[in-house]
Amino acid sequence: MTASAVKGGKLIALTFDDGPGGYTNGLLDGLAARNVKVTFFMVGANADCYPNTVRRAYNEGHQIAQHTYDHPALTTKTNEQIAWQLNTTDAILDRVLGQDLDYLIRTPYGDYNDRVLSQIGVPNILWSVDSCDWQLLNAEKVCNQIVSQAFDGAIVLVHDIHRTSIPGALNAIDILLDYGYEFVTVNELFRRRGETLQNGVNYYRCKPTGIDLGGLTEPSFEIKNGELAFTNIDPNGTLHYTIDGSAPTRHSPVYSTPLSLYNGTLRYSVIASGSQTPIRTFTVTENGNLFRDVLMTDWYFDEVDRTMTLGLFQGVAEYCFAPNDGLTRAMFVTVLYRLMQKQGKDTEVSDVNHFADVPQGWYQTAVSWAYEKEIVNGYDDGKFRPNSTITREEMCAILDRTLRYLGEETKTTELTFADSETISDWAKESVARVSAAGLILGQNDNTFAPRNTATRAQAATVLLRLYDMLGAK
Ligand code: NI
Repeated sequence: MTASAVKGGKLIALTFDDGPGGYTNGLLDGLAARNVKVTFFMVGANADCYPNTVRRAYNEGHQIAQHTYDHPALTTKTNEQIAWQLNTTDAILDRVLGQDLDYLIRTPYGDYNDRVLSQIGVPNILWSVDSCDWQLLNAEKVCNQIVSQAFDGAIVLVHDIHRTSIPGALNAIDILLDYGYEFVTVNELFRRRGETLQNGVNYYRCKPTGIDLGGLTEPSFEIKNGELAFTNIDPNGTLHYTIDGSAPTRHSPVYSTPLSLYNGTLRYSVIASGSQTPIRTFTVTENGNLFRDVLMTDWYFDEVDRTMTLGLFQGVAEYCFAPNDGLTRAMFVTVLYRLMQKQGKDTEVSDVNHFADVPQGWYQTAVSWAYEKEIVNGYDDGKFRPNSTITREEMCAILDRTLRYLGEETKTTELTFADSETISDWAKESVARVSAAGLILGQNDNTFAPRNTATRAQAATVLLRLYDMLGAK
């Protein structure tokens, strides 16, 4: 077989029915590795069970569509039952995605009649290539079935609830990419051909029309001079955005000039007739930070924003702070070290080889400094365990020794937490001194939860108080 090197001419839409399920994440991994977008016709009951998978599929640019709540043959159902099947699924998907979107439907078993079509109120997307994966249950045969029947404009039926369908489909993708096919979502297949989907009509394929309006890509953005500016805006669509938390639609403001920074929510999408890019949601801050996972309403919003602005913390991934993740010993000491640098304290290190399990890398200097200043100890086995998470009482012990190193006068108060009893003996005095210094507070219910892992948000709050305490001198 000769592979065609020409790309972009032939469009094909892979569709996955009946999930999501336990195999869907593996499929998403494979699709991401190939940068291929597909469409999922999800069963509402399963979407309810796998909300993270639904969100992941959406965020990675796949189209989310529906396949009723529990997969009945709709011709056997009353109009009311049909409405319930569709509305329930629509509501589940909206809730899981935090959006108010329209979802294409595929009627289960491809079963329909005029009454069903008049009831569904959206286009009914059927298929022209059947992988027969539920019968074959064999990856190689599924792959052959897809490849041998593929054509430009085909809609391919696969099910992501069968283990063998995942490698079968991914292998077929590899071969068809080699043949010059481009994989697109159902909405994109029709939009790019200049076709408009009609409600209550069956679609099996999208015949080539000689038209290709080109792909719809997401913009990038940059923060410069106190403004947020979008770049690379796709001319095939219009960039709409909102700052009030609502989902952007074609009625939302059109982006034209850079936005002044503000504390709030930014949502945007490039919208074209019949299709749009995934709606992206960020918390924007006046300081120019953007977060996917920190909300204005979170108790730690200000603290996380300030620690990022000061450069004490870095995100764990692009625009992600992971506020509720546990903090590791290496992370905590690294932030403490940065804090000392910013406050002009002595951060000289004489030797970096104190621990066998602290390799050269981002935290080696910080750990060595903390060890030499007697702020941290190793364990009895001579190890530091940099990747162990730190408990709240351990955090207090390190902070207590930090205060001593800094020559801060510390007092101690009686512990009045409801669970003071559960604080380890070795940590009791440290907790008392660190709370008397105002660095750490109890939780809302006046418990201290000494053995709980300190979260990144909690550590940001505590370290910011230390930063301010030192800066105030
Ligand atoms: Ni089905």
